[in-house]
Amino acid sequence: MTARELAVAVLGAGTMGAGIAVVAARAGHRTILRDVSEDALERGLENASGFLEKSASLGKLTAEEARAARANLTGRTDLADLAPADVVIEAVFEDLALKQRLLGELDDVISDDALVHTNTSTLSVTAIAAGSRRPDRVVGTHYCNPAQLMTLVEVAEGRHTSPQATTRSREFLDGVGKTTVLTKDRPGFIVNRFLIPWENNCIRALEEGHGTVESIDRAVVGALRHPMGPFQLLDVVGLDVHQAVSMRLYEQLHDPRFAPPPLVDRMAAAGDLGRKTGRGFYTYDNRRSFGA
Ligand SMILES: NC(=O)c1ccc[n+]([C@@H]2O[C@H](COP(=O)([O-])OP(=O)(O)OC[C@H]3O[C@@H](n4cnc5c(N)ncnc54)[C@H](O)[C@@H]3O)[C@@H](O)[C@H]2O)c1
Repeated sequence: MTARELAVAVLGAGTMGAGIAVVAARAGHRTILRDVSEDALERGLENASGFLEKSASLGKLTAEEARAARANLTGRTDLADLAPADVVIEAVFEDLALKQRLLGELDDVISDDALVHTNTSTLSVTAIAAGSRRPDRVVGTHYCNPAQLMTLVEVAEGRHTSPQATTRSREFLDGVGKTTVLTKDRPGFIVNRFLIPWENNCIRALEEGHGTVESIDRAVVGALRHPMGPFQLLDVVGLDVHQAVSMRLYEQLHDPRFAPPPLVDRMAAAGDLGRKTGRGFYTYDNRRSFGA
C-alpha cells in the first residue's frame, strides 16, 4: 500500500497502459484508464479484470484485494476527465508526433503540480517532452512487459526534466512496488541496449542451425538462469513489437546487431506474432499475452 492515495491517469489502454493501470489500482490509487478508442478501452479494462481475477485464483491476491483494485479502476475516453490527476502516465502508440501533441493537450487539462510520465521504448524523452510547455515535469519511464508482473522500471530524464520531478517519480514508482534504475535518455536505455542484440543473436543462432527453438530456450534457462528462454520471451513480447523496436534502434545506432534478422520479418509477415495470435516460435491454445 502507498503512503498517500493519488489520482492516477493512464493514457492508452493497450498492452502497457492496461498493465500499468493494474499496478496503480492495486497499490490503492484511484486510476483512470483513458483511450481514444471505445473498443480498446473495453479490451484494456477486460484484460485488467482478467489479470486481477487470475491473480486471486492463483492466491497472489485475496479476492477482496482483487475486488478493491478493480473498484479503483475506471475507464474514460474524454481527456477533460483527467483534470484531477496527480500523476499522468502516457502509454499511447510509439509515435513522436502523437505523444508530443498529447502532452501539449494535457498542459491545458491537468494541474501545475501533476507529474507526466511518458512510456517509450525507442523515442527520445527530450523530444517527447518538447511537445509540452512544462518539460520540467515530464519523466521517461520504461516498464518491462508484462508491467503487472515485472518489477523493474527504467527512469530517464529529458534534458529539461527537473530533479524534483525525477525524485517524485521514483517515490511514486517505489510506492507501487517497482524498483527503479536511472538511465540516460539514449536509444534503448539500459535494458534494450543489451536485450535486443542478445535476442537477435539467439534468432540468428536458430537460423544458422545451432539449435532448435526448444534446445536454445532450455540452454538459456538452464545455464544462464533466465526465467524463460529467448523464444518464449519473444512470443510474450510479440514479434511485431520486437521487429519495430529492433528496427528503430538500428536506425538510430547504425549497429547491425540491432537489425531484425530475416526470420523476424518472415514471421511478422505471416502473422505469427507470438502468444497474441496463437502462434509464434511456439503454438498456443489461448491467445492471452500474459498470465496464461
Ligand atoms: N509492448 C511492449 O512490450 C512495450 C514495452 C515497453 C514500452 N512500450 C512502449 O509503451 C507504449 C505503448 O505500447 P503498447 O505496446 O502498450 O501499445 P498498444 O498499441 O498496445 O496500445 C496503444 C494504445 O494507445 C491508444 N491511443 C492512441 N492514441 C491515443 C490517445 N491520443 N489517447 C489515449 N489513447 C490513445 C490506442 O488506441 C491503443 O489502445 C509505446 O510507446 C511503446 O514503445 C511497449
